[in-house]
Amino acid sequence: MKLKYALAAALFAIGLNTYAAPIVIKYSHVVADVTPKGQAALKFKELAEKKLAGKVEVQVFPNSQLFGDGKEMEALLLGDVQIIAPSLAKFGKYTPKLQIFDLPFLFTDLEAVDRFQASAEGQALLNSMNKKGITGLGYLHNGMKQLSANKSLAMPGDAKGLKFRIQASDVLEAQFKAVGGNPQKLAFAEVYQALQTGVVDGAENPWSNIYSKKFHEVQSYIMESNHGVLDYMVITNTKWWDGLPADVRTGLNEAMKESIAFGNKVANDEDAEFRKKVIADNKAKLLPLNAEQLKAWRTAMQPVWKQFEGEIGADLIQAAQKTNK
Ligand code: LMR
Repeated sequence: MKLKYALAAALFAIGLNTYAAPIVIKYSHVVADVTPKGQAALKFKELAEKKLAGKVEVQVFPNSQLFGDGKEMEALLLGDVQIIAPSLAKFGKYTPKLQIFDLPFLFTDLEAVDRFQASAEGQALLNSMNKKGITGLGYLHNGMKQLSANKSLAMPGDAKGLKFRIQASDVLEAQFKAVGGNPQKLAFAEVYQALQTGVVDGAENPWSNIYSKKFHEVQSYIMESNHGVLDYMVITNTKWWDGLPADVRTGLNEAMKESIAFGNKVANDEDAEFRKKVIADNKAKLLPLNAEQLKAWRTAMQPVWKQFEGEIGADLIQAAQKTNK
């Protein structure tokens, strides 16, 4: 008799499991599908739904369709979205240490950024917002930033008086002030129009964002400055994540790691392609920087490091510098 009940209970549980609705996971971001982040998000959907068939449904919302960058963090904390991947420039309010990624000319290239992110110091930063309810699932690359404007730029003095759109970052604000510019914090979705209508004169973006959002069509010049990095942290709501069934969390974690590796490959392989596409469109003129000009920009922006050393930590800055070869 006992066995009969146990069997019935087991069959009932299997039945429940079979018909249980999948967990819906909203993954929202602000860029186009073709960018490294766009591709990584779509890859995450593909992998997660394959690994956890019937258990999860991943809905990807690109191009600020669900939330813009001003609202997405709040939405994550409220549980209105489960995964977002803000640029590292947008975390200053939550953990000042992450401001390190915005320091101008700190990293020589994306490989150095990668080494720092993989280091013990870099990995520790993924957990630096746990107390605020945010868990970092991994870093994701985009690329080095280029400086564009409606005026030709060669030396730092050329930026004087120009209005530059910046992400919500105090370091980036200081960076443009250091060259006499007038920085304005604007959401990513507003950048094209702001450049087109002259609300701002210039901006800083990696090639994939420039091309996919057509910023080169509303800018006359792009200086190949590679003066900073634009990378992301993929994050989730700690309470939601910790509350998931263990097998689902494990599957999602695997899918996330693989999708990040995929996105990073896109970032590495396609940065040069996006640059070529911008050149082929023949809308904005490319301005290469010679050694003397590069030195002048570095020198002009260098005081920003000292300004933020207290908040970021001199040790962390040193650790990051060591990753340059
Ligand atoms: C920006 O606001 O410029 C970027 O953070 C957009 C993005 O997500 O790449």
